[in-house]
Amino acid sequence: MSRIERKILFAIGLTVFLTLGGSIFFAQGALREVYRVGVNERFGQELVHGVEARRGQLVALRESSEQVADAIGWAVEAEVSEKDSRRALEALLVELLDRYPDVKSVRVVEGDRLYAAASREPEPNGDALRATIRSRDATARGKKLRVEVEVVVPEMYFQRLQEAGEVADVYSRLQRESASVSDVYVWVFGVLVFLVIVVAFLIGAIASRRVTRRVTVLAEATRRVGAGDLTVSLPTGATDEVTELTQAFNDMVRDLRDSRTRIEYLQKIGAWQDFARRLAHEIKNPLTPIQLAAQEMDETYTGEDEGYREKLEHARAIIEEEVATLRRLVGEFSAFAKLPRADLSPADLCELIQSIQDSVPAILEDIGVDGPAPVEVRVSCATRPMHVRMDPMMLRRGFDNILRNAIQAVYRAKPTGGGQVLLRAYSVENSAFIEVLDNGPGIARENWDRVFDPYYTTKVEGTGLGLAIVKKVVLEHGGEVSLDDAPEGGARFRIRLPLIGSS
Ligand SMILES: Nc1ncnc2c1ncn2[C@@H]1O[C@H](COP(=O)(O)OP(=O)(O)OP(=O)(O)O)[C@@H](O)[C@H]1O
Ligand SMILES: [Mg+2]
Repeated sequence: MSRIERKILFAIGLTVFLTLGGSIFFAQGALREVYRVGVNERFGQELVHGVEARRGQLVALRESSEQVADAIGWAVEAEVSEKDSRRALEALLVELLDRYPDVKSVRVVEGDRLYAAASREPEPNGDALRATIRSRDATARGKKLRVEVEVVVPEMYFQRLQEAGEVADVYSRLQRESASVSDVYVWVFGVLVFLVIVVAFLIGAIASRRVTRRVTVLAEATRRVGAGDLTVSLPTGATDEVTELTQAFNDMVRDLRDSRTRIEYLQKIGAWQDFARRLAHEIKNPLTPIQLAAQEMDETYTGEDEGYREKLEHARAIIEEEVATLRRLVGEFSAFAKLPRADLSPADLCELIQSIQDSVPAILEDIGVDGPAPVEVRVSCATRPMHVRMDPMMLRRGFDNILRNAIQAVYRAKPTGGGQVLLRAYSVENSAFIEVLDNGPGIARENWDRVFDPYYTTKVEGTGLGLAIVKKVVLEHGGEVSLDDAPEGGARFRIRLPLIGSS
């Protein structure tokens, strides 16, 4: 896992943890609050009071039924004491039933024997009733009697008491458990948070890996470039900031590569210029003594041998001719050695092209083309003006060299006519292009690089410096020169120069 990946995952984890952790904290508080409102002390007390009130009701009912039983017991005792008549007693019982509506039946028992009884069906009003029997002893006229009074109480009272008790029970249990219940919620929530963090981590890891892997590749490529490897080029896929970065990286590496090639070439040219200067110097010095010696040998001969005199004159002529050639070479070498650096200032390229057009006849004549007929030279500038930063003298010399080569090539191939050379300039986006095409023999592909090397020539009188100068000048203009085949079959040289602004 890369460092950036670790950082991204840490940020994801922290975000999830803070938001969810915070929400647990508040949720816990809210839950406690809810319990505090719902499960509060006074509410519980009210419930307990309700239960007690209902129990009190039942107790009152029981007491009143005890009193009724007492009253009936005493009434029976009084009646039996007064007159010993079962019939009268039964009439009393009926009367008592009328007086006490909660009494369902009264039995008066003597030992095992039923002495008197009365009962009635209570009026049905839908309520279930619970009956209880209360016994009272009554002693009269030597009889030991037991009065059994059956009292009914609506079942509803018991049920209500039971329900109230249950509610109170549930409530007190809730109250007891409220703390632990909210703890359970917090725990469940905590586990959920943990799971969410794990899932967020996994998703984050997968998503971030796609980005971080590319960043890692980029970092690795940067290291390689730092170590001097300028062949690095990274694939650019999706469209996002990393792609833009990768694209910018590729552009940067390409620029670095270009400028390194440029610097290397200019260094090489510099070394060749050094060499040319030394060579010119070494050759130039002995030339005058050689020429003088030849002249002297010829002029100081006073002998009569006509044949020998002729030989001397012939040798002198050859020596003078070769010395002249060497002088020309030395001149070109030292001119190459003294070639200044391009001194750039803004100017119109088209104007320069125009002036080349004007000097074409002079070039043709210099090369030895008889009249304009055998080689047709056309010069054109499509966009004007084309402002570039340039050294007009140097650039002109470069164009001149290319044009010269082209004319020489077509003239040698087609000395009787049909040779065509085209120099055209145009601009595309931020670049000016100058192309020189010919319909000569062209250049074999394997020599496309070598023709720009100094001293590479296929001509008897050539120095091989022409295209080296072209490349040096173009590179010093921040441009580049390339070579390929012209559609017409000859060579095509193309120079690119950066335009100033958009004109
Ligand atoms: N248009 C062209 N068609 C065919 N060959 C070419 C053309 N231009 C250049 N060359 C080849 O490239 C070689 C190098 O050219 P360059 O101008 O550097 O030197 P040169 O022309 O031989 O010598 P110099 O320029 O001193 O006369 C030439 O000798 C020739 O073989
Ligand atoms: Mg040349």
